[in-house]
Amino acid sequence: MTCQIRCQKNGPYELRGPVRIEDASENVTETESMTHHLCRCGASQIKPFCDGTHETAGFRSE
Ligand code: FES
Repeated sequence: MTCQIRCQKNGPYELRGPVRIEDASENVTETESMTHHLCRCGASQIKPFCDGTHETAGFRSE
């Protein structure tokens, strides 16, 4: 299965499919078919994942 990445309007990147995510501290998350959301607003407290803060931070991705 191929990993799919979709940019959500005014929100995070949505990843679907098996992925291996390594953050700047070399923490690794591997998935099979779960859906994950990666922060692209820079305000999340759980980077690289989205914690929903983009909604209150006023992030726009036009
Ligand atoms: S995109 Fe959701 S917290 Fe950054």
